Amino acid sequence: MQVNILQNNWTENLKTKIYGRNLKLFESIESTNKKMLEDLNSNNNLEEGTVYIALKQTSGKGSYGNSWDSDNDLGLWLSVLLYSPFKKDVLTFLPCIALTKLLKEKYNISAHIKWPNDVLIGHKKISGTLIQITTLNDKKACIIGTGINLYHNENDFDLEIRNKATSLFLETGIKVELKEFFKEFICYFEEIYLGEKNLIELFKENSEIIGKKIKAKKDGKEIEAFVKDITEEGYLKVEINDNEDIWISRASLDIDTFY
Ligand code: BTN
Repeated sequence: MQVNILQNNWTENLKTKIYGRNLKLFESIESTNKKMLEDLNSNNNLEEGTVYIALKQTSGKGSYGNSWDSDNDLGLWLSVLLYSPFKKDVLTFLPCIALTKLLKEKYNISAHIKWPNDVLIGHKKISGTLIQITTLNDKKACIIGTGINLYHNENDFDLEIRNKATSLFLETGIKVELKEFFKEFICYFEEIYLGEKNLIELFKENSEIIGKKIKAKKDGKEIEAFVKDITEEGYLKVEINDNEDIWISRASLDIDTFY
């Protein structure tokens, strides 16, 4: 069900030029990514920067076909629409950079990006991003879906992720207002997207992965690799078993143990 936006004032005093100006707020839907994809495919001409937010998602989608636990009002669950020439792997960096900078600059939290699409505080994940792409009249439409854990207590996380997940509340003791947090986040998002700075450089500034040894699964096998750089496509450039440089994309590498 869609909530009356005016009543909720989600766009009032929003400091962005484009992003979030067209906003749909849902009390409960399966998934903001899924809904946006359906609307785009049924010829709803959505403008750049359109945002869908759900207070609850009954079937939230995560990366690698996983589900994203969001059938609760404990976080910011949103999708942003971009018509962008950037490659998918690089676009994934956008909300991660925005959130990491926001947490550092406004909440004094030392967060960092775990390549390619997670934001961590220490070793615990506070946010993840799932991008879905579709083509409309030769235009590439990119749905950038991000989940940010805001109000969870430890017991709110399933047992199997309890020691790997965190929320803004657990880190700061603050219960931010959802609307206000959204406005801060979308401002950072737009500033980074429209700004002059190269996304790969920004990624490197906000990640700790370069120069680290990682344990990962590549093509089903456990490997250890040394991370040398991030390429312009957003791939990891690693050295495996003292072999020369190898470039790997997110699709072929699943980092489980992280420096
Ligand atoms: C991950 O696995 O880390 C990616 C999680 C992405 C979750 C967000 S919540 C809003 C949007 N809608 C979805 O169904 N998924 C994304």
